Amino acid sequence: MTRVFDDDLDAGIATRAVHAGQRPDPTTGAIMTPVYLTSTYAQDGLGQNKGYEYARGRNPTREALERNVAALEGGTHGFAFSSGMGCLDSIMKLFQLGDHFVCAENMYGGTPRLFDRILSCYGLKFSYVDPRDTDAIEDAIVPETKAVILETPTNPMMRLTDLAAAGELANRRGVMLIVDNTFATPVFQRPFEHGAHIVYHSSTKYLNGHSDMVGGIAVVCDEALADRLQFILNAAGAVPGPLDSWLVLRGTKTLHLRMAAHDANGRRIAHQLAEMLGEENVIYPGLASHPQHALAKRQMSGFGGMISVEVGSRERAARILQRLRVFTLAESLGGVESLVCHPATMTHASVPPERRRAIGITDGLIRFSVGVEDVNDLLNDLEQALGSEVKGQRSKQSAHR
Ligand SMILES: Cc1ncc(COP(=O)(O)O)c(C=O)c1O
Repeated sequence: MTRVFDDDLDAGIATRAVHAGQRPDPTTGAIMTPVYLTSTYAQDGLGQNKGYEYARGRNPTREALERNVAALEGGTHGFAFSSGMGCLDSIMKLFQLGDHFVCAENMYGGTPRLFDRILSCYGLKFSYVDPRDTDAIEDAIVPETKAVILETPTNPMMRLTDLAAAGELANRRGVMLIVDNTFATPVFQRPFEHGAHIVYHSSTKYLNGHSDMVGGIAVVCDEALADRLQFILNAAGAVPGPLDSWLVLRGTKTLHLRMAAHDANGRRIAHQLAEMLGEENVIYPGLASHPQHALAKRQMSGFGGMISVEVGSRERAARILQRLRVFTLAESLGGVESLVCHPATMTHASVPPERRRAIGITDGLIRFSVGVEDVNDLLNDLEQALGSEVKGQRSKQSAHR
């Protein structure tokens, strides 16, 4: 089981990003952690090895990544997986038949798909509540509840949960708080500081940052929990290969720089979109018009590059998506390149239509993942793709006034 190097926790976030979990290679002094492409390790004799027996259980490249992200989150143990969903599936193996979970009603679409279409068949039970309402979270707790599972901000509606309130209530009610920190990353938000027990990521996104692999990672700060997760990781085996681990590790070295750039571009673009579409149609926690802006400022040190907008209809969304040039139409998010997607037919297509509507994922909703390109190129792209649509919308709005 991979424990952080304790002295890494004394460093600032940028130093952790660059160095945590990595020490010059003991054999050569190589500065960069080697990619240990091996499935097994020679043993000196029966029961005598160097701590490595078989690569499903431990791999030095993976361990460097696990230590690095654990240190970034301010936890003690990291566990890397082969995808964000594989990570969550392994976390859920901590529980058993009859256990109940209170979950945010609006999370990445694959999360309720895993819960409702797979894990519920194994006797786990899930309730979904508005994550903005901590009283609703508490009211949904029953004697069988074992954890509150949140994503904040949520994908794609950018709804926030008050992490301090959720942490307080989870600890008071004796349940775990599990937080998907994919959108904010530890650069902007650290759920352990608010009482979370497990923090996890789709490392496919900002942690890797270059859209060249798929992965997940969980971090805990409790030895007994770490022991159980290590057992699951090895026994169920949803581990990433060493090259994918290395790609995330290279990505996290610049996480703080990239997040600052995503945030700067995100703010400019959110303001531009608000001017074009009206601020009521732009969902970005960094806008003063976001209903939870004050909370966002309190628990996040930046707002990042994820923005959702409502353009009114599927046809209009399709026209805009067709015209965008610098923003590429694609699933996923968090890479250096700007992407755009249509949640209703892409990332959240697996969510039943009535539930999508109840959450606010309309056919006219578009989600932007703002990259780190020159902001003027992004602004110009939006202007050419939305300009004519907006004129129509503006004249309709003024006709209604
Ligand atoms: C917030 C969030 N969590 C988890 C996942 C699942 O991660 P992965 O695609 O790496 O399995 C995603 C994927 O888009 C996501 O956006």
